[in-house]
Amino acid sequence: MRAVTFSRFGGPEVLEVGDFPEPRPGPGEVRIRVTAATVNPTDISFRSGRQAAQVKELGLEPPYIPGMELAGVIDAAGGGTDWRIGDRVMAIVNPRRPGGGAQAELVVVPATSVARVPEGTSLEAAATLPMNGLTVRLALDQLALRPGQTLGVTGAAGAVGGYAVELGVADGLRVIAVAGPRDEALVKGFGAEKVVPRGDAAIRGLYDAAPGGVDGLIDAAVLDGAVLPAIRNGGKLATVRGFAGPSERGITIEPVRVVSYLHNQEALDRLGRLVTERRLSLRVAETFPPERAADAQRKLDAGGTRGRLLIVF
Ligand SMILES: NC(=O)c1ccc[n+]([C@@H]2O[C@H](COP(=O)([O-])OP(=O)(O)OC[C@H]3O[C@@H](n4cnc5c(N)ncnc54)[C@H](OP(=O)(O)O)[C@@H]3O)[C@@H](O)[C@H]2O)c1
Repeated sequence: MRAVTFSRFGGPEVLEVGDFPEPRPGPGEVRIRVTAATVNPTDISFRSGRQAAQVKELGLEPPYIPGMELAGVIDAAGGGTDWRIGDRVMAIVNPRRPGGGAQAELVVVPATSVARVPEGTSLEAAATLPMNGLTVRLALDQLALRPGQTLGVTGAAGAVGGYAVELGVADGLRVIAVAGPRDEALVKGFGAEKVVPRGDAAIRGLYDAAPGGVDGLIDAAVLDGAVLPAIRNGGKLATVRGFAGPSERGITIEPVRVVSYLHNQEALDRLGRLVTERRLSLRVAETFPPERAADAQRKLDAGGTRGRLLIVF
């Protein structure tokens, strides 16, 4: 079976298409024939070597297969699962494992990492949900805000940021988002109460929109400590690239790691239901064949992409 792969860390040019033996599902696992897998910032970190220490610690040997989320059709099932051949599913995968990640024709995952594709949703669109949706679900669970409280979101036009606005609204929060002027209508459409322009005045703008500061903030733009002044005394900050402090004024910093929700099938099912109810928007920007995975990563890395880039098999 074919997969996007790399055998050394480096620029996008290290990506190639490799031929691998067909993986077989063990007990409690399923094999998915992949239609689409997304390209995410973590794939760029993995390929460039920014995760080399982690990879070394795990004892992982090349070749590596990137990709953390996919959608396709169940093609084989090990014992002890209720999934049937032909079921249309979406799944989250940790690519830092011996079997590799999502950007492959056939991927074996634990049955608990899989959920049904929402009714009326294409496999391409469904592929954009599991990893980034679960990231935001986890961030909101860590922030543990009450309905009516305020949630700040930076990078609100991006994949994590967009879901943060919509899931925050679905949780009954008042969402104040930071985004560039060309994304204001998009982010308002996600349900943000107010969109503050990104840039030097963004943090002041967030603070002014929620006098005293927001109760919690999801920092999808990875501004780290710079966002602290927008948060009220004793509030909470969810970070997505490991920032853990220093903090100030009793603000709790919650680093979010989606791998801790790798088996949260109930949460993935609930995300799917929100799509069916049209409370969560799935966005595909462009599709690429596996041979053009390097172009997809270059495009994502350049910034400005709205909606996710997909590798389609
Ligand atoms: N910890 C975890 O488990 C986990 C899981 C998923 C994602 N993540 C991380 O979450 C981050 C966001 O991922 P994503 O997929 O949402 O990326 P994305 O789709 O590229 O979105 C990032 C957004 O932030 C904006 N942005 C970037 N720099 C900014 C700045 N200095 N000021 C204001 N806005 C800025 C971007 O705008 P432009 O496009 O115009 O630059 C874009 O709208 C990444 O670092 C990713 O690695 C972590």
